[in-house]
Amino acid sequence: MKRFDETSILFIEDDDADAQSVQQLLCINPKIHLTWVTSLAEGTQHSESSSFDLIITDLGLPDSKDVNVVEVLTRIWPTTPIIVLTGCHMKSLGRFAIHSGAQDYLEKGDLTRSTLAASMSYAMERHSLLQEIKQTCDELSYSNAQLKSAQSRLVQNEKLATIGHLAAGVAHEINNPLSFAKSNLGSLTKYVKNMSTFIDLQSQVVKSATDLEISKHQSNLKIDYILDDCPKLLQETIEGLERIQEIISNLKLFSREEVTKPSPTDINSCLGSTIQVALKNLQDKAEIKYDLAELPPVLCIPQQINQVFMNILLNAAQSIQGYGTITIKTWYDTAVNIRISDSGEGIPTEHLSHIFEPFYTLKQTGEGTGLGLSISHDIIQKHNGTIMVDTTVGLGTQFTITLPVQDS
Ligand SMILES: Nc1ncnc2c1ncn2[C@@H]1O[C@H](COP(=O)(O)OP(=O)(O)OP(=O)(O)O)[C@@H](O)[C@H]1O
Ligand SMILES: [Mg+2]
Repeated sequence: MKRFDETSILFIEDDDADAQSVQQLLCINPKIHLTWVTSLAEGTQHSESSSFDLIITDLGLPDSKDVNVVEVLTRIWPTTPIIVLTGCHMKSLGRFAIHSGAQDYLEKGDLTRSTLAASMSYAMERHSLLQEIKQTCDELSYSNAQLKSAQSRLVQNEKLATIGHLAAGVAHEINNPLSFAKSNLGSLTKYVKNMSTFIDLQSQVVKSATDLEISKHQSNLKIDYILDDCPKLLQETIEGLERIQEIISNLKLFSREEVTKPSPTDINSCLGSTIQVALKNLQDKAEIKYDLAELPPVLCIPQQINQVFMNILLNAAQSIQGYGTITIKTWYDTAVNIRISDSGEGIPTEHLSHIFEPFYTLKQTGEGTGLGLSISHDIIQKHNGTIMVDTTVGLGTQFTITLPVQDS
């Protein structure tokens, strides 16, 4: 018989004669310690008290039969190799047992010292190889998960950089014409004021004059109406330009390419600038309601926090069928809290645990990358905050973010 190091074997066999012959073959080796039991139940009683290097079992036991024996044993001792003993000409049962988790099978009629020794060493070797493969698979799937998450971060960083770059470029381009248009309008307003004073004076003269021709022109050209409407038009145009200026400054705030270090930030103004940028996508889908409290500054990277708000707001708008409501609430207790609620379709329970996973999307192909929430989760985690979701199918979803307030 092949020499084994100290080997502890659980041997399950109810037939006395078969048990005797196996024991005779094994006990010649003093390093083999055999625990013989006659039923599966008796064997499983050793599950807590003893650990075995190998299990040899009959498949026709009084309390269990065939592959069921293997299934029970592998459940209790998942890391112990198993050899099954079958009756003569029962090769198919043996192969079936291997599919269920056994490492080898031996027909009782073929039992000799050498076949048993070969089977034992083969079973233990095969089992340790399987364990190694399993460990390698586990390592591979862990690396794969890490790779996926790194890839998603890279994609998002790239996306962010592109958006930031575009936004900064557009803001710069618009800013110049905007400045001179606004300054020209300022001068025009003064000119119109002077001209209207002058025309007023002329009107006095025209009224007292007998030349009806001038008076007729004044009426045909609607000079009185124009003089009345001019200041209103100019005022409206100035307000329009001021609005564009505000949007541009929000866009700049949103993109802030240069800011990669945390700085004390007003979360309400982050929300404001993000909503401004996303307004086109939001206002067609929902009324936006605000319930904003005074907040202390949060030490954070505002560009990243904006990105989180953007992802959540876009998801909220996309979840609303028809027209609904998005409510934004902020408050401060021991930390700064932001809650974005929507009246959308909600998230079914079976999907809820996956929504923060990279590439998990329920949207049509091409509509979502499934990265928004995984990136948001990552960003909030890096800011030592939390992000939680509460949802009811048919009623809506709310995301609550908590960000700690630290000394800057
Ligand atoms: N407010 C919400 N209401 C309903 N479902 C939501 C909501 N927010 C997220 N989900 C679900 O979670 C999934 C994952 O969201 P996530 O933002 O990560 O990816 P996405 O929106 O599908 O794609 P991406 O944001 O990358 O364009 C979404 O596909 C959607 O099914
Ligand atoms: Mg999304």
